[in-house]
Amino acid sequence: MLKAVLFDLDGVITDTAEYHYMAWKQLASEIHIEIDREFNEMLKGVSRMESLERILRHGQRERDFTPEEKQELATKKNKQYVQLLEQVTPSDVYPGIRELLLELKTSGIHAVIASASKNAPQILRSLQLTDLFDYIVDPDEVAQGKPAPDIFLRGAEAVGATAEECIGIEDAQAGIEAIKSAQMIAVGIGDEALLMASGADVVLPTTEKLSLPFLKSLIC
Ligand code: G6P
Ligand code: MG
Repeated sequence: MLKAVLFDLDGVITDTAEYHYMAWKQLASEIHIEIDREFNEMLKGVSRMESLERILRHGQRERDFTPEEKQELATKKNKQYVQLLEQVTPSDVYPGIRELLLELKTSGIHAVIASASKNAPQILRSLQLTDLFDYIVDPDEVAQGKPAPDIFLRGAEAVGATAEECIGIEDAQAGIEAIKSAQMIAVGIGDEALLMASGADVVLPTTEKLSLPFLKSLIC
């Protein structure tokens, strides 16, 4: 029986995955590294510092910066990202998401945020969605980031659900891998070939068709 739905945030609840890409692209170009959308798929779902490491390795510049300088680069990217977040309003919630969250609340099924982003609480406030979630996992609460299962397992535990009673929803390859490694049902949002290759049970092109009956049909 479905007891909890664990949502990624960026790229599932709203379009902030695009803002992450814009902020990383600008920072990378300042240090003479070019990144494109294909490479960006490897950054989705991955923590701020690990994303920076991947960008530096991509540009073969991983040895050019001290730990302090890397920290400064990550802070600079976050400042730019937080500036982009200023434009987020409740109308930016992806189609179907608010309705699904209301259906979950009415049915007593827990809704959880399982995002690697430290900015998640602020984004949820800007979208006026905070009250519709029962728990927001703090990424600092878990030892390993996605694709490890930790964040999804912690989210399930926080609301008293077992893995078999949970569905995870993700737009990132690392996120789908994390859900599957937590032994939960994984719903992908976005590129079907990419997300099926990571082990998604089902992929929808957008959030529009997400509904409680659809999710229940995956788990009974
Ligand atoms: C999510 C996004 C990543 C981002 C990470 C950390 O997983 O998909 O692109 O790097 O969160 O976000 P933060 O807001 O803490 O930098
Ligand atoms: Mg995402």
